[in-house]
Amino acid sequence: MSSTLFRTKKVEQSILDTEEPEHALKKSLSALDLTVFGVGVIIGTGIFVLTGAVARDAAGPAVSLSFVVAGVVCALAALCYAEFASTVPVAGSAYTFSYASIGELPAWIIGWDLVLEFALGTAVVAVGWSGYFRSFLADNIGWHIPAALAGREGADGFGFDICAAFLVLVLTGILVLGMKLSARVTQVVVAIKLTVVLIVIIAGAFVVNSANYSPFIPPSAPTSAGTSLKTPLIQLMFGWAPSDFGVMGIFTGASIVFFAFIGFDVVATAAEETRNPQRDMPRGIIGSLFICTVLYVAVSIVVTGMQKYKSLSVEAPLAEAFKATGHPWYAGLISFGATIGLITVCMILLLGQTRVFFAMSRDGLLPRFFSRTHPRFRTPYRPTILLGVIIAIVSGFTSLRTLGELVNIGTLFAFVIVAVSVIILRRTRPDLPRAFRTPWVPVLPILSVCASLWLMLNLPAETWIRFAVWMAVGIVVYFLYGRSHSRLGRHEETTAEEIEHPPHGDTA
Ligand code: ALA
Repeated sequence: MSSTLFRTKKVEQSILDTEEPEHALKKSLSALDLTVFGVGVIIGTGIFVLTGAVARDAAGPAVSLSFVVAGVVCALAALCYAEFASTVPVAGSAYTFSYASIGELPAWIIGWDLVLEFALGTAVVAVGWSGYFRSFLADNIGWHIPAALAGREGADGFGFDICAAFLVLVLTGILVLGMKLSARVTQVVVAIKLTVVLIVIIAGAFVVNSANYSPFIPPSAPTSAGTSLKTPLIQLMFGWAPSDFGVMGIFTGASIVFFAFIGFDVVATAAEETRNPQRDMPRGIIGSLFICTVLYVAVSIVVTGMQKYKSLSVEAPLAEAFKATGHPWYAGLISFGATIGLITVCMILLLGQTRVFFAMSRDGLLPRFFSRTHPRFRTPYRPTILLGVIIAIVSGFTSLRTLGELVNIGTLFAFVIVAVSVIILRRTRPDLPRAFRTPWVPVLPILSVCASLWLMLNLPAETWIRFAVWMAVGIVVYFLYGRSHSRLGRHEETTAEEIEHPPHGDTA
């Protein structure tokens, strides 16, 4: 049995599958499209919303160091992702990579894990967007959405976030219509978002008060988290007194602002739709990650210099910092940019999600019904619609922070598997052409594994429990459905049967 659990799908087969006309995606993206996609999905709720909460509750002005730590962890992972995306240029990202290297069960686990990352990530960002959008409506047009339809946060009794759900449904429609349309919409929105971020950095730099940087790393203080399950697992494991701030606070902060970097891995899920994936994929992934890291560090340094970290807003820290320093005009502009900017993040996470689901269904691990592309638009419209509707409902009933942490643990886990897969595939298939080679294998992938695990350990114990439950459900689904329906498994069975009982008339 263990041999079936670890059966691997040949890389050549993965590439061949993409050429079946009914199950093929259109190849239309360039390196620039990919970088824009990357920046479009990376800059979002993380920098616009989480910076304030992390500075205030976990790291102080040293939140900029949290961004550096999270950026380094992502850079290590990106170097591994880039090798895979340039070797196995088919839809499905880490899922496809691990199917080609470690085996079917680990691939299933990673696919299931990516579904969690992208689906919940989409929901989290939709809710973040809804907050900015509602305040934009209230401040500029005077419209107030009734409390029962304004989301879970602060809802008394029933609470459904109608704006978040609506956004997800509209984006689902756009994705069904086709990649090229999505890419064009994205380019415009990314330009707006980048402009806003640059305005924060440049205009904000003029109102920085250096006294706000002291102390840069606030001394560690007993935690305000409440129950011990809310404490980072590492502190429980070593029996440390749970604390916020200090040097450990930088790492706790990094494990949360890590959300701000999620998305560069999504670029890899579009490999199959890229014109020249071997060349463009690494450029797209590493380029977008680099741009975002520089911007994040700059934004967080500026914002914590504008306002004392204790007074930063948790909902809209960038805009509020400008209001607090007497520049409401900039604040309005930033809210507008955030409202527009978060739309692309949501859309690309949704795209990544449907592509992973599509790849799993094409392999038979999920029903094949979902892998038929649309006859005219050539998009995987069935999983797009199904998942779009589910995510819309989830986002309507979701609260932000807990789900954000769950998304982070899932993504970090995917990084671990990808890094391990790079080492394995180098040994099992040294012959494969690799347009991009991860440097210093196996040292760099091992470092990537350790760095990702370290951030995972800095997440709360309860996040680990939720993650374990999700993965346990996934394993049950695999044994009840995926294992017996796997196309690879069926192919192997047929081949074995043919060897034992050759078809009539076969003289071989
Ligand atoms: N990185 C994306 C964000 O910050 C998911 O919203």
